[in-house]
This record gives sequence, C-alpha cells and structure tokens, in this order.
Amino acid sequence: MLNIKKIRQDFPILSRTVNGKPLVYFDNAATSQTPQVVIDAIVDYYSRYNANIHRGVHTLSQEATDAYENARNTLKTHFNAKHSHEIIFTSGTTHGINLVANGFSSLLKAEDEIIVSALEHHSNIVPWQMLCERTGAVLKVIPMTQAGELDMQAYSALLNNKTKLVFVNHVSNALGTVNPIEDIIKQAHQVGAAVLIDGAQATPHIKPNLQALNVDFYVVSAHKLCGPTGVGILYGKEEWLNKLPPYQGGGEMIAEVTFKKTTYAGLPHKFEAGTPNICGGIAFATAIDYMNSIGFDTISAYENELLAYGTAELLKIDGLKIYGASDCKTAVISFNIDGIHPYDIGSILDKLGVAVRTGHHCAQPIMDFYKIPGTVRASFSFYNTKEEIDVLVAAVKKAKLMLG
Ligand code: ALA
Repeated sequence: MLNIKKIRQDFPILSRTVNGKPLVYFDNAATSQTPQVVIDAIVDYYSRYNANIHRGVHTLSQEATDAYENARNTLKTHFNAKHSHEIIFTSGTTHGINLVANGFSSLLKAEDEIIVSALEHHSNIVPWQMLCERTGAVLKVIPMTQAGELDMQAYSALLNNKTKLVFVNHVSNALGTVNPIEDIIKQAHQVGAAVLIDGAQATPHIKPNLQALNVDFYVVSAHKLCGPTGVGILYGKEEWLNKLPPYQGGGEMIAEVTFKKTTYAGLPHKFEAGTPNICGGIAFATAIDYMNSIGFDTISAYENELLAYGTAELLKIDGLKIYGASDCKTAVISFNIDGIHPYDIGSILDKLGVAVRTGHHCAQPIMDFYKIPGTVRASFSFYNTKEEIDVLVAAVKKAKLMLG
C-alpha cells in the first residue's frame, strides 16, 4: 500500500500553486517530477565532489568517478543487464536511438529491411528514415488497430530473411498501450533480426528484465522516472555494442591517438566521448533507488487504479472520446471532446491549475490514423490522487461549458 500523503511530501513542487490554484500535475509522460532525495543528490555533488571523472589522481576526481561508476552498477542491477559495461550513459532516449541508427549505417546494405511500428514517437521514426536514406534499406511499418494496439498478424507477415532490425516502443507515449515486446523480440530473432525497444514510457511504471527479454538494445530517459533531464542510458548486448562503431569521436573514448591512427577504448567508454553528465548519472541512480524503495509492483498497481477511475469518470462527460482502448495500458488517457480543439481545453485546464499535454505528442502518424489534429493527454504518476482526478474532471466539464 502506498502512503500517498508521505510520498507527496517527497516532491516539493507538488505543493506549489499555478494561476492561484493548487497544482494538479498530469503531464508525467512528458516529464516526471523530482523528489527531494534526487534534488539533494544534485546539490551534494556540486557542493562536495564536483570534478571530472576517469582523468584525475586527486581525491575529488576519484570520488566523482566512484559515484558515477556505482551509478552505472545500480542501473545494471535495476535493468538486469549481464555486464555494467553494457550500460552506456547517454543524454536520453533520442541520443541512444541515434547512436544505434548511426552504428548500423555500416552494417546494412541496400534492400535490407527494417521495421518500425505505427505507434512510435517521432524519435523512433526519423533516425531510421535517415538510416534508410544513407544505406538504401527499406522501412516497413507494423500497422495499428482502432484500439491503439499493434496488428501482430501483420507484423509476422512483414518479417522475412531481409529483415535486419525491428524498433518498437515498449509503451506508446500518446496512447499508453503496452506492446507485446516479448513476442515481438522472439519473432524478430527467428529471422535473425536485432531488436531495439524504446523504454522511455515503460520504465516509469514497469521494471524490465533485459536478460529475460533477450532484447538487443533498450533505451531509457532518466527524467521520465524521477531523475534529471539530459541523461539516460542505452543498454546493448555486449556482442552488439562490440559490432557497432563509435558514435562520436573525442576524449575518453580512445585507447591511443596518433596522427596516423587512433584505436578506441573498450566498452562502455567507446560510446562515451567527452565529459558526460556526471551529476545526472549519479542522480539517475538515486531516482532508481527511490522508486525501488516504493516498489514498481506497488507503483503500477496504484497507477492502474488511477487509470480505471480516471477513465470511468471522464467517460461520463457527454461527447468525450478516449483514444487507445487496449486492456494493457499504462496510466495515460488521451481524449478529445466533440467539436473542441485540444489546445483550447488544455489552456483552460492550465488556468485551473491542471497541467496536461495537448497536441500530436510527437506521434503524428497516430493522429493521422485517427484523423484528428491531436488530443488532450492526462498522464498519471504514483504521486497523483483520485481527488486530483476529480479536479481534472470538473475542469474538463467547465472547459466544455465555456467552449462548447
Ligand atoms: N516524449 C514526451 C511526451 O510524450 C516528451 O510528452
């Protein structure tokens, strides 16, 4: 059982007001809020041991290096990677995807096929289109259904011995659908294709076991799960990371440099050119520890209650339609009201202190599928409450009265 009152006290921002009203923060799929323990870790780093890592013999540098490498180990344990060097620190999910897409430029040839899904965020579409332009590979798309799920029969039919890569998100950011990634990975491996799963929207709710999934690449952003912005990880199986060339050249990613030839460092440093977001990596691990102290099973059970309550209450409003009707969803409700633009609803909600995202959610193909310009998206976290959902519902009713 969650002690919701105590949890809310962990997040200083939750006690502020917006436009004179108590903040109701329902934009968690865009970014989550930060608990005091993570804010403290950031302050502690800059107050006590700010230094560059892997470079200095002095005490501060050693302390920072230890804390950063301990953070990598925390992430390795949380995601159940086999080796800590399979955890590459990145600036976030988009960076991780681009690193892999760039690496495959030298591994693909014309007419090879790569598969993405209709439910992707633009960051899991555009890098693969750019990869196809560079290599002549062909992009195929797993279609979606009215319920906002992937058409798995169509997926099976797309796979063949030309398929080299499959990219799917674990959870759709726009609809909340949890995709059947175990099956997707298994089928891709049967034709010898590698699989990258975008875990940005799943990892705040689900603790993925990467070895059990047998996934080749998995990407995560810290700021979606109570960590800071500008940091994330790319997990890659050792054998795949060894096959990919470095993404960026620079300091820290080399073994030896001469003007004739440079040799590269081993994993993970080969992919970590330049001074990384040291404090961010450390704070990311602190956020993971914080969430584990609550427990991901407890978090997802509570968020499912919020999802069921919010869905039932919103559907009582005449003319309100929810997009994404999968039985397997995270706590995301994407909706519209007949004849009213989502942006107008979002603006009125903001005046009433309720933060939601409106628009296409960087997933234009999903909006095209439903023939809508966008939606209002309310996304819940474990620190939200049913009382806040009541505020949302009342605010939506008011917006409907004013705009309808
Ligand atoms: N990808 C983030 C979202 O869905 C920004 O809002």
